[in-house]
Amino acid sequence: MLALRKSANKLLLGPPGPSPEELDELLCVAMRVPDHRKLAPWRFVVFEGDARDRIGAELADILSARGAPEPQVAEAAKSMVRAPVVVMIVSSPVDDGRTPVWEQELSAGAVCYNLLLAANASGWAGVWLTEWPAFDPDAAIRLGIGSSERIAGFVHIGTARAQTPERERPTLDAKVTRWP
Ligand SMILES: Cc1cc2nc3c(=O)[nH]c(=O)nc-3n(C[C@H](O)[C@H](O)[C@H](O)COP(=O)(O)O)c2cc1C
Repeated sequence: MLALRKSANKLLLGPPGPSPEELDELLCVAMRVPDHRKLAPWRFVVFEGDARDRIGAELADILSARGAPEPQVAEAAKSMVRAPVVVMIVSSPVDDGRTPVWEQELSAGAVCYNLLLAANASGWAGVWLTEWPAFDPDAAIRLGIGSSERIAGFVHIGTARAQTPERERPTLDAKVTRWP
């Protein structure tokens, strides 16, 4: 139920997760987002199984080469195996000379959230993260991000080992005005 929607705790996600076929269905749903001029300015990269360890090793390698403390390197190595499935959503704007990149990036954000909602609707828990790799030039190279692209998020999908406690939400009074 959307009124009670909440994200999973990234540290309390585990197996099982969607099968490749189930994930394909979720990705089809995720793509049904508002998209000005139908540019489809986003793409997905799926990390499942051992691929999660391989990308974790690449991320750890980046930090290690920078002399980061060992616990940080170890955390990076494990960062993609917290959930059974991780989907990277890449904002990939199309230069058609008239559609603002901002609009296209918003559409990519909508894809991230739609994927999360689709996963929830199918009974999976999930969370939308960026963390440092989304903003790191070296990570971008290892993740195959093009010069005009940006990482909109990593949506981690699986099963929650514990319920996330409810958190305080903004009130309508704080956020809504009515045009007089
Ligand atoms: C673009 C974006 C990036 C986020 N990145 C992180 C992150 O790197 N780490 C994190 O703990 N939460 C991150 N969050 C927040 C979680 O997705 C989530 O919203 C938060 O844990 C609160 O849970 P809720 O969705 O139930 O309100 C991000 C949210 C957004 C929209």
